[in-house]
Amino acid sequence: MTAEDARAIARAFAPKQPWGNRWDYYYTLLKLRSDPLYPGVLDALRGTTAPVLDMGCGLGLLAHALRHDGQSMPYRGVDNDAAKIRRGHSVATRSALENTGFERVDLATTVPKHRGSVAILDVLQYLPAPAQQALLEQAAAMLDDGSRLVMRMALADRSRRGRISRLGDRAANLIGWMQFRPRHYPDADTLRAQLQRAGLSVTFTPLYGNTPFNNWLLVAQRTG
Ligand SMILES: C[S@@+](CC[C@H](N)C(=O)[O-])C[C@H]1O[C@@H](n2cnc3c(N)ncnc32)[C@H](O)[C@@H]1O
Repeated sequence: MTAEDARAIARAFAPKQPWGNRWDYYYTLLKLRSDPLYPGVLDALRGTTAPVLDMGCGLGLLAHALRHDGQSMPYRGVDNDAAKIRRGHSVATRSALENTGFERVDLATTVPKHRGSVAILDVLQYLPAPAQQALLEQAAAMLDDGSRLVMRMALADRSRRGRISRLGDRAANLIGWMQFRPRHYPDADTLRAQLQRAGLSVTFTPLYGNTPFNNWLLVAQRTG
């Protein structure tokens, strides 16, 4: 993402007072500048109009990226981290982002009701394998014609990238940015087979850019 676009999006997370906490601003700026996640997800959703449910939304950065990209579909973000939901909601309200909502939900036990597109970005590995399966089954059932399931995740494999992803997730937990430790890294064949059984076509593309991580983008939609 260009420096200009990244700054324009991240600015929403800067404190209103010069002495305020700038952590969320620098985190979002660095993420937007260094990680191809959002350009990849924006490309995958561009042209769709169905509401987006962002499962494990964190600060709701996707909502800001969508609006900056001119994508105005309704957006709802859910996450089990109450502090992130509170900050995400407050920044979206302050930024007058229309048609957005935030809610605290633990996806390990509850999957919200929804019809439309679904985003699951860098979240899957925090759920145990059975909860991942249940989440994907319900996410697949949410898709209408014309909506998409867009996921980014580190895949389980023995590559150097795979090892670095696992270390990065552990470090995020140790420094307190992530409240929880990763539980299970999915593999591409299992994900593809499950979503195809649910009647979806599935594409995988690498989405690590210049980062050292083993991140892949999965886009699925209803066939026929
Ligand atoms: C690496 S962050 C990704 C945030 C956001 N999707 C993004 O790409 O910027 C992972 C997010 O998943 C959330 N998460 C982890 N386990 C969860 C659960 N059981 N239910 C809901 N959210 C969860 C975390 O709180 C965190 O905000």
